[in-house]
This record gives sequence, C-alpha cells and structure tokens, in this order.
Amino acid sequence: MNAAEAIRARHSVRSYSQAKVPEAALRRVLEAGRLALSARNRQPWCFIVVREQSVREAIASTGHFASFLAESPLVLVGCGNTKTSPKWHVVDVTIAMENMVIAATAEGLGSCWIGSFDGPKVKELLKIPEDYNVVALLALGYPKEKLRPHATRERKRLGEIAMRGEFGIPFG
Ligand SMILES: Cc1cc2nc3c(=O)[nH]c(=O)nc-3n(C[C@H](O)[C@H](O)[C@H](O)COP(=O)(O)O)c2cc1C
Repeated sequence: MNAAEAIRARHSVRSYSQAKVPEAALRRVLEAGRLALSARNRQPWCFIVVREQSVREAIASTGHFASFLAESPLVLVGCGNTKTSPKWHVVDVTIAMENMVIAATAEGLGSCWIGSFDGPKVKELLKIPEDYNVVALLALGYPKEKLRPHATRERKRLGEIAMRGEFGIPFG
C-alpha cells in the first residue's frame, strides 16, 4: 500500500479484535513517528506504548469519548516536551503521530485519534515528567471488521476549501 492508498484507506476504528499487534509492526509504526519532521529538528517527543489492560482502562476513564481504549489492544500516548520546544511541541507531536497513523494503516492496523482525556491524570498514571504535556492518544489494533479501503466519509469538497492566489478565489 503506498502513501496515497493508505491516506484513502484510513478511517477511525473504534472496534478492535483482540489479536496482538506484533512487535515488528509496532516498531515500524514507531519508526514512522521517529522520522517525522519537527521545528528546528528538535524532535520534542516521546511515545509511550501501553498494552496493559488495567492501565488502558484507567486512561479511558479519564475521557468521555475513549471507552474503546479498554478494548483496543494498545494505546500510544504522544508526549511533547514543553521545555525543548515551548512553541511547537504540539504541532511536532501531532505530525509524528499522523505519520504513525498512516504507517499503521499500511500495516492493516486500525487506529483512532483520541483527544478526550485528562492530561494531568494520564501524566500521573504513566509517571510522565513535569516537562512533558500529553498531546494525543492513539488507539491501535486490528479492526474487528476489515478496513474499508474506499470508505465514503463526509468531507468538504475541494472547491469549498482550496483557493487560488488569494482568499475567496475558488481553486476550481
Ligand atoms: C484532534 C482530534 C481529536 C479526536 N478525539 C477523538 C476522541 O476523543 N474520541 C473519538 O472517538 N474520536 C476522536 N477523534 C476522531 C474523529 O472523530 C474522526 O477523525 C473524524 O470524525 C473523522 O472520521 P475518520 O477519522 O473516520 O475519517 C479525534 C480526531 C482528532 C483529529
């Protein structure tokens, strides 16, 4: 699957099989994050892989739209260093995690971005140092139903969002 195919095939998965994510596939996903661009190449990130059921449940309970974390075989916790990159750590971690989302899709894995969590509580649960903020969570695992490569998702038309030269001139 090339990058364009993976971008097209990706959709949020909130129902997971219990199949273990192989360590090699997980490593390739993490590698896709490691290679991401970042402001001044500061790489102000770390990613915590959580497989433990009780910890996933505890993380899930801190948010309102994350209950399926109790079911997804693992969750990646994306942390940004506020000291090494006060201005860009959120953007940088987000870019790295999107790389991981696309790499995961190419592995046949499903994922779901999760913004619904309590940062300070997650920090405490995972012993994350003061200098880091929890930027995002990513549920990861094999989907209960196969990924739908041509899922028709509601998206704005290109004509609504792309412009030529200046604001308001439709791209056409
Ligand atoms: C910043 C951000 C936060 C999100 N938070 C959640 C969340 O807490 N729970 C959830 O189920 N989905 C969450 N999502 C997933 C979106 O709901 C989903 O990407 C969107 O509806 C489009 O659907 P698709 O991913 O299938 O294309 C989040 C996505 C983003 C980008």
